[in-house]
Amino acid sequence: MENLIKIIKELTISDEEKALILQELKAVDKTIAITEFKYNRTVIDKAAITNVLNASIQEIDKQKKDIEAANNEIKQNLLELDAKKKLIEEKNNDLNKALNKLKSAQSQLIQAEKMASLGELTAGIAHEIQNPLNFVNNFSELSNELLEELKVEIENGNNGEVKELLEDTIQNIQKITHHGQRASSIVKGMLQHSRTNSGQKEPTDINALCDEYLRLSYHGFRAKDKSFNADFKTDFDESLPKINVIPQDIGRVLLNLINNAFYAAPLPPPAGGEFKGPDYLHKPMVMVKTSYLPPSADGEMKGAGTGGTCIISVSDNGPGIPAEIKNKIFQPFFTTKPTGSGTGLGLSLSYDIVKTHGGEIKVRSVKAKGTEFIIQIPTS
Ligand SMILES: Nc1ncnc2c1ncn2[C@@H]1O[C@H](COP(=O)(O)OP(=O)(O)O)[C@@H](O)[C@H]1O
Ligand SMILES: [Mg+2]
Repeated sequence: MENLIKIIKELTISDEEKALILQELKAVDKTIAITEFKYNRTVIDKAAITNVLNASIQEIDKQKKDIEAANNEIKQNLLELDAKKKLIEEKNNDLNKALNKLKSAQSQLIQAEKMASLGELTAGIAHEIQNPLNFVNNFSELSNELLEELKVEIENGNNGEVKELLEDTIQNIQKITHHGQRASSIVKGMLQHSRTNSGQKEPTDINALCDEYLRLSYHGFRAKDKSFNADFKTDFDESLPKINVIPQDIGRVLLNLINNAFYAAPLPPPAGGEFKGPDYLHKPMVMVKTSYLPPSADGEMKGAGTGGTCIISVSDNGPGIPAEIKNKIFQPFFTTKPTGSGTGLGLSLSYDIVKTHGGEIKVRSVKAKGTEFIIQIPTS
């Protein structure tokens, strides 16, 4: 530049032209300087950008590797999960098989218990059927005699007598039908009791059911043991409406509780104790009581639902249940009775039946005073 200026100054051109050229030259110089500066800046920026890019690429590479590792881990976990799922499925299958086995064992047990209690019932049923059968036999015989008389009166042409005899015969036959039906219904009840399939819920007269099983049980005990001398009392709440239950099932609960009570009532007092004073004459007694709590009154009854509550109490004045076995009596197979006298299934099945009806079964027992089982069933 300095050389250029020197050359220009020595040139034989006018001073104005020199000044113009010099001015142009300076402008060009300035532009070059600026361009040079910009170029340098660009080079620096490029280097910086390259650095940043390199760093980013490294970072991305690293992240890619991390993602791959995570991916692998997930795949591994998935495999493990799959294996675990299979294991769980297998276990589930095993459990289902075990459950099915248990269910069939349980239904066999229930059936065995039904047949056992049917055996206990037989004597009672025989007694109960004997009664209507006696009626049927007597009235049939009587009807025969009436018909013989009728024949004679028809031959004699006594129209008035004929009419009377006919009326008597009709009444007799109605009685025969009535008692025949009574016997049928007892047999029907017996068949229902032993049926394998579960029955349907239907509106049931609980008082009548209690009465029926109380008599069957009582006559059963009497027929088996001539010296059996327990007595029974009932106290039925007539305001109790029909309630929706499976009658055969609730019947089995009643039979279990009443049989237990008739078994316990005549037993001697617990060892080392006595029933009351030395002069007290123990009279074995079983009591079956029902009561009804209408919906408005059952606020205090916990777990009784929103409707009313039917309460059935079966009590005896036997020796009571020793405190140390009280929490075992509802376990299947728990029995204190000699072999052949008890299956130990009665209370456990009763418990299940009452639970399926949404109810509760409780026991109160006082040593040397007696035992009371209380069933509560919601009426809706
Ligand atoms: N009313 C009762 N008084 C005294 N003990 C009772 C009474 N009811 C039940 N138990 C006791 O509970 C046990 C279990 O009863 P349960 O399940 O009906 O079976 P099982 O009558 O076949 O023994 C009885 O063996 C007896 O020890
Ligand atoms: Mg029993």
